[in-house]
Amino acid sequence: MKKAIYPGSFDPITNGHIDVLRRASRVFDEVHIAVIQNPEKNSFFTIEERIEHLQELFRSEPEIQIEGFKGLLVDYAKKKDIYTIIRGLRAVSDFDFEFQMALTNRNLESKIDTVFLMTDEKYSYLSSSLVRQLAKLNGPIGQFVPDLIEQALREKCKAQKGH
Ligand code: PNS
Repeated sequence: MKKAIYPGSFDPITNGHIDVLRRASRVFDEVHIAVIQNPEKNSFFTIEERIEHLQELFRSEPEIQIEGFKGLLVDYAKKKDIYTIIRGLRAVSDFDFEFQMALTNRNLESKIDTVFLMTDEKYSYLSSSLVRQLAKLNGPIGQFVPDLIEQALREKCKAQKGH
């Protein structure tokens, strides 16, 4: 059974993330989406909301598991006994930081390897922060995120404006 961890903030998940996930699912039997609970980063959606969105999106796909994690990714990987990490690459500009992270993780745990998958070029400019910005300004986001996320973003923005 080939398993991999796909870690990230997923704040929110975009069609670019889903594209990477679909590609990973063709290579691995099980993909564990690991949603970071990052106390240093003020997330738009809470960890509970992000997990709930992902669970809803992949409800009928048991080969895609969803969990939250805190702390070091390598500690989470060791606990799960899964030593392959998936990361998506959109453009060369992603590479520097991803290279640093991959080597840091391998330095912390030599068994860890990171597998990079390239997103479809139509998502090469897409990011969660861009989607959040568009949503806050009531821009069109339907082509960038699944319907469920679009709805959640709209509701969150409305709730925030109400305060
Ligand atoms: O979606 P993101 O924000 O690009 O994901 C980044 C993530 C969560 C993969 C990265 O920040 C991470 O692994 N954080 C956990 C802390 C850690 O292990 N740091 C050491 C490796 S650089």
